[in-house]
Amino acid sequence: MKINGKKALVVGGSSGIGREFARFFAEQSLDVAIISRNKAKLESAKQFIEKFNRNESKIYALQGDVTSEAFGKVIDETLSSLNGVPDYVVYTAGVAFPRKFAEIPFDNFVQSVNTNYLGFVKTMHHLLQHYTDKKINVIVISSMAALIDTFGYTTYAPTKIALRSFVKGLSYEYKDISFYVVYPIDTLTNQLISENETKPLETFLIDESGGITTPDRIVSYTMSIVAKNGKKNFYEIIPDGRFVYLVSKVFPWVIDLAVNSALGKAQKIRKEGREREVLNKMIERYRKKFEEYERKRNKT
Ligand SMILES: NC(=O)c1ccc[n+]([C@@H]2O[C@H](COP(=O)([O-])OP(=O)(O)OC[C@H]3O[C@@H](n4cnc5c(N)ncnc54)[C@H](OP(=O)(O)O)[C@@H]3O)[C@@H](O)[C@H]2O)c1
Repeated sequence: MKINGKKALVVGGSSGIGREFARFFAEQSLDVAIISRNKAKLESAKQFIEKFNRNESKIYALQGDVTSEAFGKVIDETLSSLNGVPDYVVYTAGVAFPRKFAEIPFDNFVQSVNTNYLGFVKTMHHLLQHYTDKKINVIVISSMAALIDTFGYTTYAPTKIALRSFVKGLSYEYKDISFYVVYPIDTLTNQLISENETKPLETFLIDESGGITTPDRIVSYTMSIVAKNGKKNFYEIIPDGRFVYLVSKVFPWVIDLAVNSALGKAQKIRKEGREREVLNKMIERYRKKFEEYERKRNKT
């Protein structure tokens, strides 16, 4: 897929899935801007992306917090660096606080809505003020948690399904924009590793059956759909876990059964006094897989 001469913006591009999108675009000779909060992460992501920049694409790393009042200005600055509205906009900024409801501070709900949902609304609000009728692609990273309800994600799943609803509405108003909502399963990134620190045992046991994927797989699968660019302007993309998703639609009781079985298993493990031991094992398993993936990715 060769798409030179164009430009891309990745909000949340300093890590994980976003960084991988930015890498992909740089490799395809696009100018790329990434935005996120942490300067050190931005710098290290820029270095990573530059390794794949073989055609002197311009790579911009801009510091910005999607939850801040000033974020509109960052978008304006980015558009002036990129010299106009990007051909590809990817929104991956996201936070998750997996815990049992009673343990979650209310502020975590606010932060989730502001980052995962309103940050995207804000991005589009500012971007579309500069938009004429150019054909562009907007890719939004939702989550499988938006499609299959699970345990421990009350801060997160509602914000991810809100994205779908918002994007679908926009797709009726902006016919020249192709919208893609992506629903990844568990993906080996920093977010997943930090989520594991607070994830309830029940959630781990449920997630076990959902499988695990990698950022490069999500990007290559998504971009293969984007490249086809069919007649519609709204697409929903499930890179992995389509079988489980299908089961949840056709036989929802199977999902309830699986969740209830995991709840029973968690209770048993707790009774046996093995909760910490089991959690540690799972955390370690994910961490090893993540480190192995990152090692390979950084060598490429
Ligand atoms: N990993 C998974 O298992 C999984 C599964 C399904 C969906 N997702 C979704 O995929 C998206 C990407 O997550 P990831 O797994 O790739 O995690 P990640 O590696 O932690 O990346 C998240 C990115 O968002 C940025 N970010 C977070 N809050 C921000 C804010 N307020 N303003 C600007 N940037 C912000 C982070 O940079 P800074 O910290 O520097 O701001 C980072 O660049 C998220 O929306 C996530 O919900 C992840």
